[in-house]
Amino acid sequence: MAEEKDPIICYCIGVRKSTLVQSIKEGNTTVEALRGATRAGSGCRGCISDLEKLIADHKE
Ligand code: FES
Repeated sequence: MAEEKDPIICYCIGVRKSTLVQSIKEGNTTVEALRGATRAGSGCRGCISDLEKLIADHKE
């Protein structure tokens, strides 16, 4: 399923993994930059640790 391959990471804003990975590759390699670009993490902040993990896994 496409949904499983591209899960929503930030449920508050509804931001999917592919959007975040793309943004990280464009140079948004801090939680703050990623939040500025995608709004992920601007709600409950419960996804912050997931954002940090994605950054660690995908920054170049
Ligand atoms: S799940 Fe991302 S801010 Fe709440």
